[in-house]
Amino acid sequence: MNNLLVTGGCGFIGANFIRYLLEESDFKGRVINVDKLTYAGNPLSLTDIEKRFGVRYVFVKEDICERRRMGEVLDRYQVDSICHFAAESHVDRSIASPDEFIRTNILGTHTLLELMRERAKTIALFHHISTDEVFGSLGADGFFTEDTPYRPNSPYSASKAASDHLVRAYHETYGLPVTISNCSNNYGPFQFPEKLIPLMILNAREGKPLPVYGDGLNVRDWLYVRDHCTAIWTIMKHGRRGSTYNVGGRNEMPNLEVVQLICGMVDELDDRLSSGGLRKGLIAFVKDRPGHDRRYAIDCSRMESTLGWKPEESFESGLRKTIRWYLENNEWVSQVRSGAYQAWIQAHYG
Ligand code: NAD
Ligand code: DAU
Repeated sequence: MNNLLVTGGCGFIGANFIRYLLEESDFKGRVINVDKLTYAGNPLSLTDIEKRFGVRYVFVKEDICERRRMGEVLDRYQVDSICHFAAESHVDRSIASPDEFIRTNILGTHTLLELMRERAKTIALFHHISTDEVFGSLGADGFFTEDTPYRPNSPYSASKAASDHLVRAYHETYGLPVTISNCSNNYGPFQFPEKLIPLMILNAREGKPLPVYGDGLNVRDWLYVRDHCTAIWTIMKHGRRGSTYNVGGRNEMPNLEVVQLICGMVDELDDRLSSGGLRKGLIAFVKDRPGHDRRYAIDCSRMESTLGWKPEESFESGLRKTIRWYLENNEWVSQVRSGAYQAWIQAHYG
């Protein structure tokens, strides 16, 4: 892997992955980051990387659905491997307006697969990043394994399921060297503050209501983003081509408990609320998300037994690091929340 194309590298996990690759891993090549810079893509997350790593990091503002231009990128940079993150990723947005999810997540993935098929001799790996949401919802017991049948419930998860099927089919039909990972909920630095954890941290800091959907007892399996990055790199290097791998934190928790933990940590790490009250008093139960999956839990024993990977961060320590990061990175936070960020993108990338 000398010229690795990362799609969606200005998003939350993609930016953390590029940082991990260049700063910590044994990767010695060049990263070509292709990102359309939607509302969720933030080049500010990698400004220092651009300065520090010079020719080993290239950014191209492009839409993965643009077949001709994506083909030119693959050829110009002699891409020999692909790690595909680019997607519309937020379930609530997919419920409000699914079109862009179908376009980017399904057609975008298909476009990349077709471009790879045309370059089968030069591109040695397509790693596809997917989600545990393709498996649907669990009851009180049990775990998702790699053999759990797909049963997606939201437009987002249905679009991801379709993309997974395309990737698998291109392996079976055309013999393309692919790997797929299905991961549970990530958290950590650089996550857009529409997702549960960063939204709650920032609202708690600012003394705003903390909207918990339904009864707050929906369960997610939380994974610190750096642990996801080590899993992806391990699969890319050692995973069996044509295989899928479940990645999770073995860390199930009901949403209400997550929010209560955040409240306690923000009370401890930040100034008191002006009212003098505790942050848990800000929790507000609101109307449930339609089709809200009740419980996700990943069985990641294939990753552990065949590739020797395991998550390192505990939820307690990962959450504390994440809260500190959001409290210390006001500039990033205010830029991603403001129109000034869009103006900055216009000025820099057109
Ligand atoms: P994100 O929304 O933070 O980032 C997505 C990135 O993709 C953004 O930078 C955006 O600009 C870019 N993008 C969107 N459409 C594009 C297009 N047409 N062309 C080029 N770039 C485009 O998402 P994330 O949370 O970092 O998720 C990354 C991947 O991981 C997604 O495929 C998602 O389904 C998957 N995933 C996420 C989680 C999670 O908890 N966040 C868990 C499991 C899997
Ligand atoms: O499981 C992996 C998935 O995790 C990824 O594939 C998705 O890209 C990612 O967005 C995430 O999906 P979720 O829907 O689980 O994440 P979200 O942060 O939106 O919500 C987490 C839980 O918290 C969920 O049960 C809904 C609830 N929630 C969310 C928000 C934003 C609330 O109760 N209140 C909120 O304001």
